Order: sequence, then C-alpha cells, then structure tokens
Amino acid sequence: MSDTMPSAEDGLSLNRALWDLRARVHGTTPADRFYDVESFLAGRQTLYSLERELAGDVAGKDLLHLQCHFGMDTLNWARLGARVTGVDFSPAAVERARLLAARAGLAATFVEADTQRLPAHLEGGFDLVVATYGVLCWIADVKAWMRGAAMALRPGGSLLLVDIHPAFQSVAALDPLVVDWPYGGGEPQRETVTGTYADRDLTTPAQETVQYPYSLGEIVTAAADAGLTTKHLGEHVAAEFDPRGILHQGEDGRYRLPFGDSHLPILYSLLARAPGPGAGHPGWTTGVES
Ligand SMILES: C[S@@+](CC[C@H](N)C(=O)[O-])C[C@H]1O[C@@H](n2cnc3c(N)ncnc32)[C@H](O)[C@@H]1O
Repeated sequence: MSDTMPSAEDGLSLNRALWDLRARVHGTTPADRFYDVESFLAGRQTLYSLERELAGDVAGKDLLHLQCHFGMDTLNWARLGARVTGVDFSPAAVERARLLAARAGLAATFVEADTQRLPAHLEGGFDLVVATYGVLCWIADVKAWMRGAAMALRPGGSLLLVDIHPAFQSVAALDPLVVDWPYGGGEPQRETVTGTYADRDLTTPAQETVQYPYSLGEIVTAAADAGLTTKHLGEHVAAEFDPRGILHQGEDGRYRLPFGDSHLPILYSLLARAPGPGAGHPGWTTGVES
C-alpha cells in the first residue's frame, strides 16, 4: 500500500482484518458488557428504542441487516417477528452469527458480502433494510452503499440507518475539546487501532484501518441519488449509550456532547423510502430531538 492515499481495495482488506479480529473477541471477555452474549441468550433485547420506534412493527416483515457483525441485533429483530438476513464482510463475524442463531434457536440467514457490492440474489427481497451504529465510516463508496440498500428494497420498502453523527465523529476528546477528523468529504483516514469500544481495558494486536468521513448532506444526497425519498432525518443530542466512550452522562442516564452552553448531535437517524406502494410509518418526523 502507498504511504499516501490507500485504495478502496486496500482499505477494505485492512478493515476486514480488524473486523475479523473483533468478531473473534467481542462478547468473549468478562468486561465486555457491550456484547453480553449470555444475557442475550437469556432473552435480553439489544436494540435501542431509537431504531425500534423508527422501524415500527416488524412482525412478518423481511428485514435485511447490513453490517450485522456477529448477529446479536439481527437476531433481536428476529425476536420481534421479522424474517431476517444479516450481511457482513467478515467471515469470522458471519461464522459466529450462524453459531449464535443456532444457540439462540432463531431462524436467520447470514451472507458474507461487501455492502458496497451486495449480491444480486438480495434484489427486491426486503420490506426494511436496517444498519446501525458504526456503519458508513467503514465505507469508501457511500453512493454504492446506498444503491445496494435501494436495490434490496421492495417497492415502497424503507431504509433505516442510525449512525454516529458526523459532528460527533469529528471529535477526538472533550476535556479539552479536540477535533481531529474532517466533517465529511469522504477522504480516507488512516488509523492504527489497538483496542475496541466493546471492552476498553482490552488491548488487541495493532491493526491499520482506513475510515471515511461523510457529512449529513453527503449521506442524504447519496440516498436521494439511489432513488430513495427521505421521510425522516433526525439529529439526536442525547443517546442511551456512548458509542465512543467520551461523552458526559447526565442525571437522566443519557449521554451528551457538551458544546459551550449547548450540545452537539451524537447520532442521526434516516428513514428513506423506495419508490412504489407502501403506507409508511405514522411516527415519521424531521428534527433535532433531546
Ligand atoms: C461497528 S460494527 C456494527 C455494529 C453493529 N450494529 C453491532 O453492534 O453489532 C461495523 C460492522 O461493519 C462491518 N463492515 C465494515 N465494512 C463493511 C463492508 N464494506 N461490507 C460489509 N460489512 C462491513 C464490520 O465487519 C462490522 O461487523
């Protein structure tokens, strides 16, 4: 790989190596409360209210979960009654997801694929395509990702994307405030990773990665270019958990990103619909929520 701009293929193989490694360790160390497999097997619901409310009733729906990791969230959508398919590019993640489905006694299909090049057999098969928390920063070609999501939807089906807000993504530390990532632009950002958000005490072998910053405008425009109509765009200044371990927790238990006397958004949520029939979800709105 050159010292300057990594190619998309180089980025993909470096990132796959990281996620193979993480798929093998996540949920296997005692301090990993983030991926507590035993409580999941005992019935714990791992989905947050944000994505559950935006998805509405998924019972009986065909749901495609993109970048499903080792499948806990995918299987929780199954517990809510959806017929689920999970996609991830990490063979280790897909293997573990299949084993977890068997242990949980839940029906699910897991496919090993790059979400920028979804296999043709997924075309038009889904009422809902879902991706959550740590998705687009791994994607070199956000337009291809959106085209894949749109391709997988039935007429009138919806994409639900809940991810880390680009404003939060650009912040490295809060006290004092350090901003070390561009707000969008899609330029590859190299980083050598030696740990994981799931267990902050764990050191993992150093792995070079390549991540990609996208602004909210670039994300919504990519969805529009893929033929999807935005029905809801939410920017959330409080979250039920801290995806990056740097936020302040309030007395209400929720996490926020202080910015002077105010707060910056932590998460965004996008619901976008494919053309064609479909009544949609009655709760769809647009705006900042605290
Ligand atoms: C932060 S995790 C997603 C978290 C997930 N919501 C969870 O908590 O289990 C990111 C996932 O994206 C996957 N991934 C990254 N780039 C990908 C790509 N190009 N195609 C498919 N999967 C990819 C990784 O293997 C990893 O499982």
